[in-house]
This record gives sequence, C-alpha cells and structure tokens, in this order.
Amino acid sequence: MDARRGGSVRGPGTATLRALVLAFAFALTPPPTFALTPGGGSSATDCLAEFGGTPANRPASRPREIRCVDNDPACDDDPTLGICQFRAEVCVNVTDPELPGCAPQALESFFIENEQPDTNPKHDFDFQALEDQLNFLVLPVEATDLNVCSGAVQMSLRTPVQPSRSGGRWRRGRKAIVSTLTGDPASVTDEDKLRMTCVPGKDTTPCDGVTSTFEQIQRQIFTPTCAIPTCHNVAQGEHQLSLAAGEAYAHLVGVAPANFAAASAGLLRVDPGAPANSFLLKKLRGELGDSEGAPMPKDLKRLHHVHLDLVEEWIAAGAPAAGFIPALGCH
Ligand code: HEM
Repeated sequence: MDARRGGSVRGPGTATLRALVLAFAFALTPPPTFALTPGGGSSATDCLAEFGGTPANRPASRPREIRCVDNDPACDDDPTLGICQFRAEVCVNVTDPELPGCAPQALESFFIENEQPDTNPKHDFDFQALEDQLNFLVLPVEATDLNVCSGAVQMSLRTPVQPSRSGGRWRRGRKAIVSTLTGDPASVTDEDKLRMTCVPGKDTTPCDGVTSTFEQIQRQIFTPTCAIPTCHNVAQGEHQLSLAAGEAYAHLVGVAPANFAAASAGLLRVDPGAPANSFLLKKLRGELGDSEGAPMPKDLKRLHHVHLDLVEEWIAAGAPAAGFIPALGCH
C-alpha cells in the first residue's frame, strides 16, 4: 500500500508501530461535523478528497483558505503568542451536494508535498502525520465506501519575526497542504490545496512577555530555527547540543564544544564576555576552520544580521541568563 512518492527513509517496524498507534487514535475519532472544503480541481473528481477540521473561511463565497488571527479562540487552538494551531482532516468519497457530477471511486493513496527526507529542517511533520493517517488508516477504499474520514491532525503555524534593533515585529505565517489523492486506476486523481494563514494579533509584538535578552534569543532564534525535530530539539548525534527552551543556557554557556577541532582550539560554545572565543557565534557567522563542521542553521538560510548582532552583544555583555542587555533587542 505504501504508494507515497519521495517518502522518508524508515524501516517497516516503524510503519507497523505508527499504523497501530494511528489505528487506536482512529477508533476514537468522532464523525466530522464541519462543512468540508473540496480543495479545488475538476468538479468531476473534487469530492474524492475534501478537507475538514478547522473550517476554511476565506473567501466567504467559496472558502478554500483558513485565515485566523493569532489567539482568536474561534479558530486557534494554541494560546501561545506567535503560534496558530488548526485541525486538518481529509474525508474521501464525500457525498457533496455541491458536486452532483462527482462519483465515488476506488481510492489507493494520498500524498502531500513535503521537503524530504525527514531530517531536512524544512520537513513538515504535521503534513507527514496527515498523509500517514490517510494511507495507514483509511486507504485503500472501494467506490462503495462513502464519507470516510481520517480523523483530525494538528497543523501548527508560526508567525515569523521580522528582526529589528528594538525587538522585531510579527509577520503573517503561511503554509499550504498541496495534496494528490490517487485512485485505481491511477488515472483517477484529485489534486487539492488548502491554504492556512496565521495573522498576528493587533497591537502584539514579539517582545510581549519577554523577560530577558536570553529569552528573546530563545523565542526568536533557538526555538523556531534550531530546536526543531531531528536537529537541536534534544542533545543528539554529533552535536550533543540541546537548544530547547529550559535547556539551551546550560548546554551553551561555559561548555566545551562536542566538535573536536573547536574544543582542541580552546573554544567554548559560549564564552561569556568573549565572542571571538565562542563557537556558537563562529557557527552562526559561518567563520569556520577545517573540521569545525557546517555553518548554522544547517541547511537553512543564515540568520538575519540583527539576530547575529543580538547573539554577539549578549555574549559580549557576559551572556546573562536574566535581564536585558542595553545594546539592542527587547527591553
Ligand atoms: C540557528 C539555529 C542553530 C544553532 C544556533 C545551532 C548551533 C550549533 C552549534 C553551536 C553546533 C556545534 C556543537 C558542538 O560541536 O558543540 C552545532 C552543530 C550541529 N548542528 Fe546546529 N544549530 C542550529 C540549527 C541546526 C539545524 C536546523 C540542524 C539540522 C538540520 C542542525 C544540525 C547540527 C548538526 C548535525 C551539528 C553537528 C555537525 C556540525 O557541527 O556541522 N543545527 N549547531
């Protein structure tokens, strides 16, 4: 059944375990109650896969986008400032009165466009979970199986920060499910798109609730860009460095690098008061000698110069765990 294209490199054991876990979750899933969103494409096949969960609300005439203001409880399930959380579900062979010409079909596989493999920092694990839910718990179905739904999967969406010397401002967060459902024969397909947009709350800023410069660095740099799955969410592999909230400070300040060349050169990950002797800064600025590994963030674009300066100024000010440094950032 594994008809996914470009799937991640995983063993069969993992697939069976994920199928069992999902089977249990599926048994608990209540039938969908919301209006479904067809997702676009030919009206002859657009009922084969339709999106449920958090209702699409834009444009009002024919909704195909979920647009939500951060922390609006009507659509955002996550109370954290700067993160919207929606629910997405896929139902197949939907008896949609708006699509009378669309007949149910035998359906085989479901694919969502996603960066691969799952060690790619841009890989979206929410998309992976929804794709798996369909392929492991719903498909294949016969043409006689109607309105079969996957159960909702959470879709998290951050509002990125536009850095500035005074702490930055929020920008809209966006992502889109771009999917293909394939039937039997494989010429039967339903290609769909569901856009999701998280709009920053009015009069909110990325400095709201920030109590120190290190917390600003954690919230605006480490958490969204480094402490992501398969990277620094835990101390693992070559780096043995966790940059997760509550752990990053102890893993950085005054700690010798795991990298042998850097450690032999007497560097510390963060040497308080000495930016030139801090491996973190060298990694972020990409000023690396032989055998000092890759620039960071790995496989992503370099940090904004204001964020690079913020890290440097914080180290120069003695890398304080609490309080704000005078030079720049939130105050
Ligand atoms: C701005 C975000 C990031 C920061 C601040 C950061 C920081 C660092 C630092 C300081 C080291 C050296 C650790 C040591 O040797 O003691 C390191 C190594 C490493 N990091 Fe990151 N990192 C970031 C993002 C990422 C991402 C997104 C990935 C995964 C795609 C990643 C994967 C690795 C790996 C595999 C190593 C060890 C190999 C090497 O040094 O090239 N990092 N990182």
